[in-house]
Amino acid sequence: MSSTPRNGTVDGSVSLTVNGVATPLGEAPAYTTLLDWLRGQGLTGAKEGCAEGECGACSVMVVRPDGDDRSRWTAINACLVPAAAYAGQEVVTSEGLGTVDDLHPVQREMAVRGGSQCGYCTPGFVCSMAAEFYRPDRTRAAASPDGAADDGDHEHGPNGFDLHALSGNLCRCTGYRPIRDAAYALGDAAGDDPLAERTSRPAPAAEPLRHTAADRSFVRPADLDEALRLLADNPDAVALAGSTDWGVEVNIRSARADLVVVIDRLPELRELHVRDDVVEIGAALTLSEVERGLDGRVPLLDSLFPQFASRLIRNGATIGGNLGTGSPIGDTPPALLALEADLVLTSPDGDRVVPVSDYFTGYRESVRRPGELIRSVRVPLPLSQITAFHKIAKRRFDDISSVAVGFAIQTDGGVVSKARIGLGGVAATPIRATATEAALEGRPWSAETVAAAAAVMRGEGTPMDDHRASAAYRSAMLGTALRRLHSDNPTTEGRTA
Ligand SMILES: Cc1cc2nc3c(=O)[nH]c(=O)nc-3n(C[C@H](O)[C@H](O)[C@H](O)COP(=O)(O)OP(=O)(O)OC[C@H]3O[C@@H](n4cnc5c(N)ncnc54)[C@H](O)[C@@H]3O)c2cc1C
Ligand code: FES
Ligand code: FES
Repeated sequence: MSSTPRNGTVDGSVSLTVNGVATPLGEAPAYTTLLDWLRGQGLTGAKEGCAEGECGACSVMVVRPDGDDRSRWTAINACLVPAAAYAGQEVVTSEGLGTVDDLHPVQREMAVRGGSQCGYCTPGFVCSMAAEFYRPDRTRAAASPDGAADDGDHEHGPNGFDLHALSGNLCRCTGYRPIRDAAYALGDAAGDDPLAERTSRPAPAAEPLRHTAADRSFVRPADLDEALRLLADNPDAVALAGSTDWGVEVNIRSARADLVVVIDRLPELRELHVRDDVVEIGAALTLSEVERGLDGRVPLLDSLFPQFASRLIRNGATIGGNLGTGSPIGDTPPALLALEADLVLTSPDGDRVVPVSDYFTGYRESVRRPGELIRSVRVPLPLSQITAFHKIAKRRFDDISSVAVGFAIQTDGGVVSKARIGLGGVAATPIRATATEAALEGRPWSAETVAAAAAVMRGEGTPMDDHRASAAYRSAMLGTALRRLHSDNPTTEGRTA
């Protein structure tokens, strides 16, 4: 294995700022999770419940960029990310929020409203809750235009608290009502609150790093060129973004890599542009960042975001990582197929553009060459009038798809002029429902057309039986999804962008 040594960072010399205290990373192996590392420092509030991103007992807050000048507290699953990825960064655990004699507002509300019984989940809950407490637009969103008190809705409190902030945290004994009461009772941060004050300054830069311990290396390259060179020179290296997939491999399947090249903060992969003819989304932007950056400009993606895992996962998971896994049940591919998106792939030889419809070649296989990275996703404009993302899963939130469908239907004078339908979970790769598209195109957008096309759609793909769903159920859900799309959009006056 060859590698590029870096100046200015030597093994053991780097530190993480944890609860305001610089703490050396030490000799932690490159695969040591942030959770294990924190607990090794004696910070045992964050717990391991599942080690695969499902329970949120390990939730901590980190400082992330929010534009050029500001930052925001962001809750993540510490069980999934390597500690080395947070070298030079700032982390706050439940211990850093408040003390027994001086509780943080979220801790106080959880205590007085009975939001904690055995307490196993509580440190994770308070970190997710605190990140939402500090969300910059939380209270602005709650204020109604006339200044009158807002009663919220079924997903938001009167204080603007978004319940989705807690969608990745599970509690097995308290019941969620008192936890929600605590969240909805939160006021504004005090004027002298140091964590609120921290958001008025930029996040720490992601400095280049080489951390080697136990013969394995973790490298944060200075730029995309260096990342691509390292990956070209080390074919077995793992390119790491949000680590929500790789972290599960490490924890559950004991995957280890001699070299991990982290690409999550490379500026070249984190640009977002909305132009007249295209929306271009950097591959290393997290789902949460893409959601904020697009701000509803791509309604199909907007309907996908809340259905993708939990807020904790979306704060780490990148759009490039979702495509990088090549999974047939990833949620973004069906949506991107419907949107006729392209991928920009980059390597030391330069960039090339591949339509998403040509990207997947087999089960977890794609046209991406070894060492090649996804730089960005391009969504062409204008968008179709009627779009939707339907995810059929066992749970409404925080679950993997049994079937996922992305729809983009364009009509002209009430007749379907273009239909693009992406499917996940019904074949070895995400696929286009081309027979159904043909059954819709050139016909009126009517219940009759949809009934006939739904029968065709039930025959798309080669669904199989597994622990999530039977093949018959998957087929039935395809037809139902199209009928539901029509029932939700009986006329052709859908949303355009
Ligand atoms: C609890 C839980 C729930 C989940 N729920 C969902 C869900 O609802 N829907 C869903 O689709 N997924 C879900 N996932 C899977 C996962 O979160 C997504 O696939 C996520 O988008 C992966 O992104 P990442 O940045 O974390 O990838 P990483 O784990 O960092 O990397 C995953 C793979 O992609 C490669 N990769 C990363 N970035 C790039 C790039 N720019 N170019 C090329 N290759 C790259 C890596 O080398 C690696 O092989 C879930 C995962 C967990 C743990
Ligand atoms: S330990 Fe369950 S999400 Fe991390
Ligand atoms: S208080 Fe026991 S798991 Fe939540």
